[in-house]
Amino acid sequence: MPVVAVVGLQWGDEGKGKVIDLFAEAADTVVRHGGGANAGHTLRVGDETFVVHLLPSGVLHPQTECVLAQGMVLDLGVLLEEVDLLESRGIAVLPRLFISEKAHVVLPHHKAIDAAREAQFAAIGTTKRGIGPAYEDKVGRRGVRVEDCAQRPLLAERLERNLRGWEAEALQLGVPLPSVGELTEALRLVWERLAPRVVATDRRLWDQIETGRKILLEGAQGALLDIDDGTYPYVTSSHVSAAAACAYAGLPAQCLDRVVGVTKAYCTRVGEGPFPTELDASASASLRALGGEFGATTGRPRRCGWLDLETLRTTCRRNGIDALVVTKLDVLDTLDRIGVKRAQDASAERLVQHQGWNCPTHHLRTFADLPEQAATFLRMIESDAATPLMLTSVGPERHSNIGETDCFKGLPTGGYRRPRYTFGG
Ligand code: GDP
Ligand code: IMO
Ligand code: MG
Repeated sequence: MPVVAVVGLQWGDEGKGKVIDLFAEAADTVVRHGGGANAGHTLRVGDETFVVHLLPSGVLHPQTECVLAQGMVLDLGVLLEEVDLLESRGIAVLPRLFISEKAHVVLPHHKAIDAAREAQFAAIGTTKRGIGPAYEDKVGRRGVRVEDCAQRPLLAERLERNLRGWEAEALQLGVPLPSVGELTEALRLVWERLAPRVVATDRRLWDQIETGRKILLEGAQGALLDIDDGTYPYVTSSHVSAAAACAYAGLPAQCLDRVVGVTKAYCTRVGEGPFPTELDASASASLRALGGEFGATTGRPRRCGWLDLETLRTTCRRNGIDALVVTKLDVLDTLDRIGVKRAQDASAERLVQHQGWNCPTHHLRTFADLPEQAATFLRMIESDAATPLMLTSVGPERHSNIGETDCFKGLPTGGYRRPRYTFGG
């Protein structure tokens, strides 16, 4: 303790990376716990821009331990590329990296099958990073875990079984499967470098919780992409909720001291699926241009629309959000009218037009300095979401913010917060 979880409240790309990078200034450990290289987080520090897919967004701070926990599906080649890129830019990563032995490995045919399904069937609009097939193997009990890479005969056995499971579909899709030998050789090369970084990350985190280190659980994707709670079947293949953060990090359920939810001041989505407040093509393109809304992983244009406070209220309740972060307020600076779907008053027209503020907010650092209409807009979000606003982001840079930047502030240190049962007590 203290442990803070950060959760995306929309369809991903809410600006979680920027927020985690900021929060990580005060953290000892940052944990990615679900998903894989489908995530893409853009971090802006001074004149430099960094994009991470697998490494936690807190990686830029040299004091942080970076954990890739058991709920993840890891493309080990992509991971090493990311490590090497950051190290070439002067950031030492490997000595601070801890990889769960229980995380699953994304294999080349996972990516090929993901891409072929997208091309040949009713598409979800996946990132083609092999996430779905890797999680299918995990629940089908034919997946390859990180720890398997350490044991040659066992690895070959697991790979053989894995490949057998894909034979029929690969044939149908026309995807050539690699041989066990090819896979073993590719894994051997990355394993040589990563093996020393593989540990029981869950035990390591339990120890850290007991000694009062500050732990940040970094959510990827967003609540509306959750495999159960999202807009199924147009979702990712993992759980994205705050509750899942505990399971995926291997932590006890009562460990969370605070859950912070991140939402944009408007809404975006990449890939297919429903989007009730989506703008028409030309208005969507205008908002996309203002917000620079292109995917950090695939470069795809993001679909744009207005903020849906009715859904936000629900996702806040489902995730037990204690504090809200609203990002990209500055993107709305030049709009005369800002649409927003209200959460309350079922009889009234839900999609209302909020008056714009027509002046820059990027340079502002206090709530009191915000133009009145911007302040009213934020208060409306807070009220409809029934969740207090903690921080507003007014630019992509680490310190372009208004509000509280220390997510651990006021939290108890040491031990679990709930008293334990005492017999007869
Ligand atoms: P994530 O997946 O939730 O980490 O979000 P992404 O990094 O994929 O997308 C968010 C984009 O918005 C990135 O390009 C950020 O640099 C940028 N961004 C984050 N916060 C702000 C903000 O407050 N204002 C502006 N203009 N851009 C922001
Ligand atoms: P971050 O962490 C936005 C979406 C894909 C697709 C669906 C399934 O950057 O917020 P998958 O490849 O996971 O099987 O694709 O989920 N998706 C994301 N959209 N941001 C993400 O991550 C996403 N991760 C997955 O676009 O619609
Ligand atoms: Mg993203």
